[in-house]
Amino acid sequence: MPFVIAIDGPAASGKGTIARALAARFGFHHLDTGLLYRATGAKGGDPISAAATLEIGDLARPDLRSAEAGQAASQIAAIPEVRQALLDFQRRFAAQEPGAVLDGRDIGTVICPDAPVKLYVVASDQVRAERRAAELGADPVEMLAQLQERDRRDSERATAPLKPADDAVLIDTSTLDIDQAIAVAVAEVERVRSGA
Ligand code: DC
Repeated sequence: MPFVIAIDGPAASGKGTIARALAARFGFHHLDTGLLYRATGAKGGDPISAAATLEIGDLARPDLRSAEAGQAASQIAAIPEVRQALLDFQRRFAAQEPGAVLDGRDIGTVICPDAPVKLYVVASDQVRAERRAAELGADPVEMLAQLQERDRRDSERATAPLKPADDAVLIDTSTLDIDQAIAVAVAEVERVRSGA
């Protein structure tokens, strides 16, 4: 059985950085599932058919990291048929040997509920806004409002809302640097792999 690491959390919590580091460390495949929703939103037109016809090439568009693409992704991600259309791809990705790391909002709750490692990564609103503003060269105050709006929408939607799985391990990166956050995550994966 391939090993699955499910990582969820709000925007700019550090989950992507942790996911990439774990994939590199353990030699696992990595999927940033937010990109699927960003690419679906960026295609325009009917979001349900955009999701159903999504191709790998669509994930390489350079504009997908923008704040606007994030907001559009959050809006179309509330449509149950969009989520359904992206489900199989994510499950197939997670089934690859020797293992996979998927990060998003509903990986531990909906996409891979049986994942042996589930992490829920959070950070204070202030810290997340400052990080994302630095990344995108944007205004931290505006970024804070955008992140809060997106988190509210992602948490309040009826289908697969952002929330920790009951058995997820919480990592708060507010006061951790990148290396410390990665070390906590690696320790959790090693604990589970060793059967402790
Ligand atoms: O992780 P991100 O910021 O790139 O995600 C963009 C949006 O996509 C996010 O606001 C909500 C949606 N999303 C989702 O609903 N489920 C996921 N597994 C990943 C992202």
